[in-house]
Amino acid sequence: MSEVGSTKRYRPETRLVHGGTLRSQFGETSEALFLTQGYVYDSAEQCEARFKGEDPGFIYSRYSNPTISMFERRMIELEGAEAARSTATGMAAVTTAILAPLRAGDHVVASKALFGSCLYVVQDLLPRYGIETTLVDGLDLDQWQRAVRPNTKTFFLESPTNPTLDVLDIPAIAEIAHKGGARLVVDNVFATPIWQSPLSLGADVVVYSATKHIDGQGRCLGGVILSSEAFIAEHLHNFMRQTGPSLSPFNAWVLLKGLETLGVRVRAQTDNAAKLAETLASHPKISRLIYPGRADHPQAELVKKQMRGGSTLVGFEVKGGKAAAFRVLNALRLAKISNNLGDSKSLVTHPATTTHQRLTPEARAELGISEGFIRFSAGLEHADDLIEDVAQALEKA
Ligand SMILES: Cc1ncc(COP(=O)(O)O)c(C=O)c1O
Repeated sequence: MSEVGSTKRYRPETRLVHGGTLRSQFGETSEALFLTQGYVYDSAEQCEARFKGEDPGFIYSRYSNPTISMFERRMIELEGAEAARSTATGMAAVTTAILAPLRAGDHVVASKALFGSCLYVVQDLLPRYGIETTLVDGLDLDQWQRAVRPNTKTFFLESPTNPTLDVLDIPAIAEIAHKGGARLVVDNVFATPIWQSPLSLGADVVVYSATKHIDGQGRCLGGVILSSEAFIAEHLHNFMRQTGPSLSPFNAWVLLKGLETLGVRVRAQTDNAAKLAETLASHPKISRLIYPGRADHPQAELVKKQMRGGSTLVGFEVKGGKAAAFRVLNALRLAKISNNLGDSKSLVTHPATTTHQRLTPEARAELGISEGFIRFSAGLEHADDLIEDVAQALEKA
């Protein structure tokens, strides 16, 4: 196989199309799908050398695979990371990035505003293995600072947060983590690699659910962890090889092709979301609108500082609580009710009864997830069709 070589000198759009390509002897244009579990060796000596790490090449697809490797390399070049490991799902990426480096007696600090499954990992799972956790209001830097203990090893956050789209100060939180001897892990799913690069803002590890914008066409699940070579070598390499949260080569191929259009899709979806937010801002049936990228966003200055663009998501609260929100969801014709996001089809979610239903009503209220709150993931439809769809649905609220 021949490598296309580093695309790091090019701009992100170019890296998304060419980064990490490995071309076989057939000279294919589109990346090949190597749907193979294992590999054969020319000799027993070569096999031995490969297991010893003295012969470059693949051993077994739980460890690595040429198609998976192309996906990881493309992500590395896009994100400006040294290394990456892909996983079967976004949750496998989050769980591995947090759990693999830790042991009983360590301490984790995380923002309260997390996707429900991430909250489960931090709040329920880690303590079962003797890892202490503290949840803080991610917007309050004093709380991060006060939570640091001598045994704090990891800070974890997502920004913008799911579903209320708060933007957390990544450079400031990274500084607090580093002063306390901890690393910062950022779930960058909502921002996408197009609008935010946490590693350049001071984070040590970035995780993605590739299921979201990276596929972006509702086909497969996947995840990826990006960091320094040292973090992967020291903390992830053996853990992942032996426990096997590996990405399927088929899904890696889908995600690799997804990356080629990621920039175009995210920009178009962001434009749609911004236009929708603009029309919702003054709508009489809406009591709250949240859109990173608007001047009325609570952290508008921070958005300008650490993000290159807004969001493909809009959050809004319908007057009249759950019943009104359900009437709106049920009346939508184009936008589909689904708990997914980042898709080329517009998707709407009622977080209080889905992604965040596990939380107590008090915990939801604290996070601003009211009964009337709707998360709208803008797709690639024509903006006017989306605006008309939401307008006619709001009539029913
Ligand atoms: C912020 C965030 N992190 C992680 C995940 C988990 O991703 P996956 O569904 O691919 O496991 C999701 C998905 O819903 C998410 O929204």
